[in-house]
Amino acid sequence: MTEINILSRLKALSTQAREIFSTINTQEQLADFEIQFLSKKSEIGQISKNLKTCSPEEKREIGQALAGFRSEFVEAFAEKKEILEAAALNEKLREEKIDVTQQFPVKHGSMHPISHVQRQVEQIFTSMGFEIADGPEIESEWHNFDALNIPASHPARDMQDTFWISKKSENPDENFVLRTQTSDVQIRKMREHGAPIRLIAPGRVFRNEDVDATHDAVFYQVEGLLIDKNISLAHLKGTIETMLSQLFERETTVRLRPGYFPFVEPGFEVDFSCALCGGQGCKTCKNTGWIEFMGAGMVHPNVLKNCDIDSTEFSGFAFGFGLTRLAMMKYGIGDIRLLSSPKIEFLSQF
Ligand code: PHE
Repeated sequence: MTEINILSRLKALSTQAREIFSTINTQEQLADFEIQFLSKKSEIGQISKNLKTCSPEEKREIGQALAGFRSEFVEAFAEKKEILEAAALNEKLREEKIDVTQQFPVKHGSMHPISHVQRQVEQIFTSMGFEIADGPEIESEWHNFDALNIPASHPARDMQDTFWISKKSENPDENFVLRTQTSDVQIRKMREHGAPIRLIAPGRVFRNEDVDATHDAVFYQVEGLLIDKNISLAHLKGTIETMLSQLFERETTVRLRPGYFPFVEPGFEVDFSCALCGGQGCKTCKNTGWIEFMGAGMVHPNVLKNCDIDSTEFSGFAFGFGLTRLAMMKYGIGDIRLLSSPKIEFLSQF
């Protein structure tokens, strides 16, 4: 190419570069521009490279034109690069911004079926003058067994396969278990308040059970205790019939069969007339018309003595039923394991 041609080519390239440069508004376009006009491989780059083969005269003229091109675009390029980088950063920050005022749809939970039945039971018993009591889930051996007339050698201990926390000492005050029954609360509250006393104690209990559809190692019981003067089994029967009739919203009767629990004398197994069929016989009551419900009886004099209550002056009844089983019955839940599962489809039904 002659010098004249090169100069006019440079002019044309300047015009083209100016046009393209004015339309650039992304980093990609700017990178393309750099390749096309500013890189060593660009036409401009080639022209500068070939400059050394030119005569001094040509060198000066073409060199000047090249310097003009560079001074126009190199600086403008750097400036534009900075602007586009800042814009890209801004965009990124805008995308990452958290709107703390944004409202999200809130899903409300519902009450667990066990809590539901527990509240109903508590409401019914408080309306009959019972107080709600509580006790520790990690309990001393003495409160869980000895004080309830179940000494270490007693075979009744084997009925409740126990989770021991520690069993090092000869002294039952120093050994601890996950309580196997809520009956420990009887002892704690009688020792704290003496007689008369009227309470229920709902709570969790623990037994080393093989878990299946009807057994769990963790379940809920409700303990009941009433100590006063001239208390008889008729009071026990009336109290439980009132509670169940209100809970099932239909007339419910109970029957007592002899049963053995070391901390009551006499002791009973209590059944209630099937709430589903009204005693006619159905699948739930296995066609007997009765459902096994709880253990109960008149508090043993030894237990009263362990709680410093004079058994010649005071007597009373105690009972314990499975709140978990009651909830399963009331809601027709066939598998106990559902009650400790976090499945929303199951829990949202209640
Ligand atoms: N604690 C007994 C159990 O878990 C139930 C019971 C309570 C029996 C009170 C009689 C009196 O099986």
